[in-house]
Amino acid sequence: MSAQSASELLQQQHRDIDFGIQGAMDGSSDQVELLRSLDLLRAHLHLEETVLFPALEGSVGLSIMVMEREHGLMWPLMESLAAACRGGASLESMEDDLDELFGLLQVHNPKEEQILYGVADEHAGLADALAAARLPEGWMCKAVQGRRA
Ligand SMILES: [Fe+2]
Ligand SMILES: [Fe+2]
Repeated sequence: MSAQSASELLQQQHRDIDFGIQGAMDGSSDQVELLRSLDLLRAHLHLEETVLFPALEGSVGLSIMVMEREHGLMWPLMESLAAACRGGASLESMEDDLDELFGLLQVHNPKEEQILYGVADEHAGLADALAAARLPEGWMCKAVQGRRA
């Protein structure tokens, strides 16, 4: 048995990702911390799209389509911010992308928490499946996979 429920794990990730992006926005962190938050966001989208959403498809399929579309809006921002971090760009130069990504998350995350995460805890074994999942190298979210296929 996993120590955390599925909703606890995923909500904790939301908070950690928000905290990391906010730190980059207010200048209290640095590019290394931001890159770590972007990596966590990528891993989080992977958990949702490959473990959580397939388990919930029967009950909340329409909401899942909306969530996957919103992941597709985040992805290019995540990629350009990660590239900027690796290239040693200043946090100030990333301001617009950071604002946009943070804004998307503030609309997206509450919907997931209200509509999907509550249902998730009714699925036995989901917390363990989330804890066991590993992000494959080069994974892209579904909306972007479709766009680039
Ligand atoms: Fe999501
Ligand atoms: Fe999420």
